[in-house]
Amino acid sequence: MKYNFDEIVDRRNTDSIKWGNLKETFGEEDILPMWVADMDFKAPTEVIEAFKERVQHGVFGYTWIQDSFYDAIINWVKRRFNWDIKKEWILFIPGVIPGLSIGVRELTNEGEKVLIQPPVYPPFYEVINNNNRVINKNPLKHNGKKFVMDYEDLEKKIDEETKLMILCNPHNPVGRVWTKEELEILGYICVKNDLTIICDEIHSDFILKGYKHTPLATISKELEQRTITLMAPSKTFNIPGLATAFAIIPNPDLRNKYQKAIKALRIDNITIFGALGLETAYNKGEEWLEELLKYIEYNIDFAIDYIHKNIPEVEVDRPEGTYLLWLNFKKLNKTSDEIYKALIEVGKVALNDGRQYGEEGDGFFRLNVGCPKATLEEGLRRIEKAVKSL
Ligand SMILES: Cc1ncc(COP(=O)(O)O)c(C=O)c1O
Repeated sequence: MKYNFDEIVDRRNTDSIKWGNLKETFGEEDILPMWVADMDFKAPTEVIEAFKERVQHGVFGYTWIQDSFYDAIINWVKRRFNWDIKKEWILFIPGVIPGLSIGVRELTNEGEKVLIQPPVYPPFYEVINNNNRVINKNPLKHNGKKFVMDYEDLEKKIDEETKLMILCNPHNPVGRVWTKEELEILGYICVKNDLTIICDEIHSDFILKGYKHTPLATISKELEQRTITLMAPSKTFNIPGLATAFAIIPNPDLRNKYQKAIKALRIDNITIFGALGLETAYNKGEEWLEELLKYIEYNIDFAIDYIHKNIPEVEVDRPEGTYLLWLNFKKLNKTSDEIYKALIEVGKVALNDGRQYGEEGDGFFRLNVGCPKATLEEGLRRIEKAVKSL
């Protein structure tokens, strides 16, 4: 291994959401944070070195968007997903969440409905609610082996007021990497009902062995023309603090609408470190990512094995992508409040409460395994201690 993912980096006192303000957030200072989806690993050495050089230069002026930024994205998307995208399709945005919000505002009117598939990433709710649109739920169902989409329910839920769907591909928190076949059926329903789709593909670089990410827009020409794809180097290279993401919009009418909104808000620029991070990570970070994926895969298998052996009351599917485990505590026959209390007060470990992902997440907690093995082992021991106390 060229990169050392075992290194424990002390992240306290670095203004980190995950590691700071634990007393305020959880009521306990002495707690192991395994919640927010950022990782406890250093970014690729290549990115750190590029930053050092820029810091040494000492002038941090406005950034001109260079062709090389677009090239880095175009080449990455081609290499990783075999998708040929054009420079003019790419629009820079300050994050995937703002990108979702812009889409909701531009593609729907107040009072109209937006489809989501809960349990799902909490900001999906926020970008709909905060823009006075209405949530239209098409919950995932569990078929005994894994979470799957409920197409019958989806067809029933689409009505006159439903114009837009926000898809999470791969899905946070359930860890599914939607297959080409699943996306084809979903896409057929969207085309038939004239829906536009914002496809959040921020986790698309975290695909475990044996699975393949299919960008929704590559399924068919029709879907390409009605999909806004959101991607970023942020999760992939553990640089989310740089607030840099991009939208890929092949349809010129959709793109013009979206671009007008970005320009109206004057957020069509990119920060100096965001640009440098994106270009360096995509051009020089692939070896780091390949090693990271092996490490994550080990962590996932270790965690699942540990849970099966030591905490059999907790059920978990092996994810196909992401570095998140969606733990099901329902067999304990305890309320989510009771489980939360035990995790915080007895285990002293912070996971994401499943209820944040919608009522469908009641009884679940999300565990982030994007951390050194030693941290993961400690976290699992703490979860075990909490469960045994119940
Ligand atoms: C599905 C999903 N979308 C978006 C984000 C965050 O995007 P950004 O930080 O670029 O706004 C996350 C982070 O956890 C996520 O899981």
